[in-house]
Amino acid sequence: MTHSAVPNLDLEAIDRNSVIHPFTHLKDYASGKAPSRVVTCGSGITITDSKGNEIIDGFAGLYCVNVGYGREEIAKAIYDQASRLAYYHAYAGNTNEPTVLLSQRILEMAPNNMQRIYYGMSGSDANETQAKLVWYYNNVQGRPEKKKIIARQRGYHGGSVVSGSMTGLPVFHHAFDLPVSPIRHTTTPHYYWGAEAGESEEDFATRCAEDLERMILEEGPETVAAFIGEPVLGTGGIVPPPATYWEKIQAVLDKYDVLLIADEVVCGFGRTGMPFGSHLYGMKPDLITVAKGLTSAYQPLSGAIVGEKVWKVLEGASDTHGPFAHGYTYSAHPCGAAAALANLDIIEREDLTGNARDTGAYFQERMKAVFQDHPLVGEVRGVGLLGALEFVAHKGRKERLDANLKVGARMSAACMERKLIARAMPHGDILGFAPPLSITRDEVDEVVARAKGAVDAVTDELVRENVLTVA
Ligand SMILES: Cc1ncc(COP(=O)(O)O)c(C=O)c1O
Repeated sequence: MTHSAVPNLDLEAIDRNSVIHPFTHLKDYASGKAPSRVVTCGSGITITDSKGNEIIDGFAGLYCVNVGYGREEIAKAIYDQASRLAYYHAYAGNTNEPTVLLSQRILEMAPNNMQRIYYGMSGSDANETQAKLVWYYNNVQGRPEKKKIIARQRGYHGGSVVSGSMTGLPVFHHAFDLPVSPIRHTTTPHYYWGAEAGESEEDFATRCAEDLERMILEEGPETVAAFIGEPVLGTGGIVPPPATYWEKIQAVLDKYDVLLIADEVVCGFGRTGMPFGSHLYGMKPDLITVAKGLTSAYQPLSGAIVGEKVWKVLEGASDTHGPFAHGYTYSAHPCGAAAALANLDIIEREDLTGNARDTGAYFQERMKAVFQDHPLVGEVRGVGLLGALEFVAHKGRKERLDANLKVGARMSAACMERKLIARAMPHGDILGFAPPLSITRDEVDEVVARAKGAVDAVTDELVRENVLTVA
């Protein structure tokens, strides 16, 4: 069997001459210097490329293929829906059957008595919607100055203009004129790097909340509309919050009438071992962003979920402001909704959330057992089926590696040589893991074994290059 649907075409060459890829060195890619991979099929936790390589996807695409690859049940649901009704818009009260059923189901699953959902196609556009909802919410209440949205340094919320501004990673801002003005960034809740000597997790969390409060007071509480955060910081390095963080943040937000947007794009639909990250940490969001795991990426679909407080204002504003003037052609797309329903069926039937909790606990345990004492690994962290290794030059002194050594990227490349995808996170020397939630214990063993081979190999290289002395 060939792995390509079009075996006689040089897909790689055509791609190099035609596509602008996200996060790719454009010149090196065009010239053939940077690698290309034509991915042709997938099954379970494995993808296959056009050269026949079978690779374990330890990152579930971009932490999105939660049910794993090759689920014909979802493909069939999309096919059946497309055959019946591939599309009709959702403007002016038009709807479709899968959207109705899906909405009811999401609202039942979501925490904190959510009331409505606005659909989009990506996490970025859903966060763009959240910003507009927050601004609209304050405008219609006669508070036009209450507009600022506070995000976190190293938070990730997307790559569009406002969501890219919320993202607290400089690489997303440089040369793009971001962040736009009403967005601010507060302290990263990363205990390993952020805590002072002897400071407990709880005290560090208190300090993060104090930093937030100080920022709100400096900006003027009457100008601060919302705070956005991922329950577990994701692309900024896969960092679970320090103990008591969310309750302390929540108390500050309540004090100054600042809305909480929980960006559940990664955590939602089981990844942490609970349906939503907000459940795990007792967060009480006013707005929730979902995407990725909603359809396991079998179709692009996202949602901005709206809680009671905001919904009441939106509803009340109709008489004064007319129809809600925010629209996307593909909002409430029937094929996306059909894919989501089939995906949620699988998550429920196979209890993948429970698997993320149980096999996730095994994964965390194995990662700690294998890497905790490794001389190059400063921190092994994670929750559920989210995990990360943070590499350092010196464990005892907590010294960062020279960024020019690109250790994170080399680790990821060494994993790939062993047919394992583990992601070099964009900030620091961090290797990230987020396998499909269907992963088994045996597969976890295989992921950890391949990662260990990669980490040891790069460590040996660094010692040979005389850039590292390991005790
Ligand atoms: C927490 C979070 N929010 C938003 C986004 C943006 O989603 P998308 O890439 O679908 O626009 C991502 C993507 O990784 C994410 O991790």
